[in-house]
Amino acid sequence: MPLKSDANRWGSLAKLFHWTIVLLILAQGVIGLVMVELPKKPNIIPIYTFHKSLGLTILALAILRLTWRLFDRRPAEPAAMPRWQVLGARGGHALLYGLLFAVPLSGWWFDSASSLRPLYWWGLVKMPSLTGGGADKALKELAQETHETLFWLLVLVAAGHAAMALAHHFYNRDDVLRRMLPGRRASATPTR
Ligand code: HEM
Ligand code: HEM
Repeated sequence: MPLKSDANRWGSLAKLFHWTIVLLILAQGVIGLVMVELPKKPNIIPIYTFHKSLGLTILALAILRLTWRLFDRRPAEPAAMPRWQVLGARGGHALLYGLLFAVPLSGWWFDSASSLRPLYWWGLVKMPSLTGGGADKALKELAQETHETLFWLLVLVAAGHAAMALAHHFYNRDDVLRRMLPGRRASATPTR
């Protein structure tokens, strides 16, 4: 399967990035929501550490994905799609890309403002502080609120996005969902 996208379908690398990031965000969201409910004892630290490393991995993948996207094209929208829908979809995708950066960055910001201990990515790479070190209670609370709010915004926008993908498949009966699915070749439908 070709690595690059063409007029009719997404390339294998774009699909791999899309679905890997979807699965990791799903896991990361569940871990985040569960871990904050656990009793505050030292044995929860490894779970927090895992959440931070996985979150930074998602950030790294988002950077790689967007970089690849600069060299790749996107398939054309179905010819039957009105202009306002095309613009709406592009705006929605831009928002999703923005949140793919903003959610992990706000988590990192929260970790920096808490100034608990040095942040290591998978115990290997020491990450710089985003706040210049030193605990700041007000900043910490703001960062925590931001991380949580942005996460729920991502859930909302991604749910709308998934609903649109399903509407394309079952209502418009076009190839928009099929051509993003792993390992499948989309049949050529009229494109603009
Ligand atoms: C896409 C990536 C990420 C997602 C989807 C995510 C999701 C979440 C969620 C759902 C929570 C629970 C929020 C709440 O109910 O209070 C949470 C909490 C937390 N996240 Fe993330 N997170 C991500 C990345 C990160 C990163 C990169 C870091 C740090 C380097 C981080 C640090 C934290 C911390 C420390 C908490 C606990 C907040 C508290 O104690 O109230 N997260 N995250
Ligand atoms: C965390 C969840 C998700 C995120 C962050 C996300 C993000 C994105 C982004 C940013 C794009 C635009 C790609 C580009 O132009 O480079 C995209 C495309 C797409 N996504 Fe998702 N997505 C998520 C979940 C889903 C789910 C659950 C489905 C299916 C039910 C889905 C189906 C699609 C399809 C079909 C496209 C291609 C749309 C087109 O050809 O215009 N996505 N996604």
